Amino acid sequence: MLFKRVKPLDQIIATAEKKGLTRQLGAFQLTMLGIGAIIGTGIFVLTAEAGQKAGPGMMVSFVIAAIVCTLAALAYAELASMVPVAGSAYTYTYGVLGEGMAWVVGWALILEYTIAASTVCVGWSGYMNGLLANHGIGLPDFLRAGPMDGGTFNLLAFLIGAVVTFLLVIGTSKSAKVNAILVLVKVIALTVFVVIALPKVQQTNFHPFVPNGWGSPMGGIGVLGAAASIFFAYVGFDAVSTAAEETKNPNRNIPIGLIGSLGICTVYYLLVSYGAIGSVGAQPVTGAGGAVLQPGTPEMALACKGSQALVCSKEALAHALRLLNHNSWGDLIGAAASIALPSVILTMTYGQTRIFFTMARDGLLPASLSKIHPRFHTPHVITLITGLFVSLFGAIYPVGQLADITNSGTLFAFMMVAVGVMVLRVKQPDRKRPFRTPLVWVVCPLAVLGCLLLFVNLPLKTIEVFFGWGIFGLFVYYLYGHRKSHLANGTEPA
Ligand code: ALA
Repeated sequence: MLFKRVKPLDQIIATAEKKGLTRQLGAFQLTMLGIGAIIGTGIFVLTAEAGQKAGPGMMVSFVIAAIVCTLAALAYAELASMVPVAGSAYTYTYGVLGEGMAWVVGWALILEYTIAASTVCVGWSGYMNGLLANHGIGLPDFLRAGPMDGGTFNLLAFLIGAVVTFLLVIGTSKSAKVNAILVLVKVIALTVFVVIALPKVQQTNFHPFVPNGWGSPMGGIGVLGAAASIFFAYVGFDAVSTAAEETKNPNRNIPIGLIGSLGICTVYYLLVSYGAIGSVGAQPVTGAGGAVLQPGTPEMALACKGSQALVCSKEALAHALRLLNHNSWGDLIGAAASIALPSVILTMTYGQTRIFFTMARDGLLPASLSKIHPRFHTPHVITLITGLFVSLFGAIYPVGQLADITNSGTLFAFMMVAVGVMVLRVKQPDRKRPFRTPLVWVVCPLAVLGCLLLFVNLPLKTIEVFFGWGIFGLFVYYLYGHRKSHLANGTEPA
């Protein structure tokens, strides 16, 4: 049943052209959009969590995650260039595997986009709290983190989610110029970090290299556990493909945007993690009797009380520079992160609203959700609902748990895209493919296997949340979308 109702690709493209958004983005803006969405909490904050999971071996984790993302990006690029419309993996799946699977993917993308936005809200609050505390105006502890992380309510995470939502409602997303400036701020901040940290690298800091081993399925620890978490640092490159419908010459520009932004970020991540590990060390803290501790747990919060270890920091890169006696540079990196991270929240929340918009356009969600504000011309209803959840999750959950949940949905969506590419090569071999995944029968199966490998190395709790969310989604589909689908009812809006 899940595989029925395949929406012909030509119909998808035609619908998009009818109710389309203006095509205005070029290759450079897309690459900027990609980097804007990619560099964020992953490198600025989760480096600490990756260190706790894998120690110095997190460098290998960064490489593994980059390989999986590159494989997935090569698959994405083929579909995005063939079907250059909004909706990303959801739309592709609709055109290849049918409505039920498309719904499941769209439902998983909610984890990717909404929860990623929450994750970055928490990451931002870590840096902002650090900056405020450093200048003697810190918030009380209970307002600095959620209940599982040594606090009660993460006030700043909540507030930044609310501010970004407001900006989206009044239509701020359109400013590609502001995005470009913020990308520059992030890239300069990471460059400064690398320039200061690299000369301080000591080889002794790389021993032991894999203190927690390579990881075990559903353990969420070790090098593979860290790879499954740090995968978050690369999430976002597919935001490029969600903008396909607004892109000039998508056939050329989408692949450039996807692969270009991913490549640039990978180089930076490897340099930054090498610098952080080598200069200040990244050995995990342990509990009683040397017990391995999972980040984002009360036990970890306890072990970290008063600790200066990198793995305990909520503002890893700024903290590392302060440990290296570069207080002012630490503050500047903190300021750069505080200025730039909101753009990631914005891109993720924007991506979510566009996916909802596409799903509502297909009749799988109520049309009222895609209502456009008469003055601001934005889908304000869905933006406000999304923003409320983004803020609340940010206020309550620890950054690592949110990142892992994001990753579960993203890995699933990536897997489906790789499967979709293969299915389409068999079913429609002659369809025009402006970008062809090279060595498709090697790349796509490896992309699926890579995503599976990372998925099973997420913590058990995350995998449970993923399946719980999926089952809930199927109920919603059978109660609503299955009956209201425009494709099924022949009610495609003219
Ligand atoms: N990759 C993005 C980040 O690290 C989502 O914040």
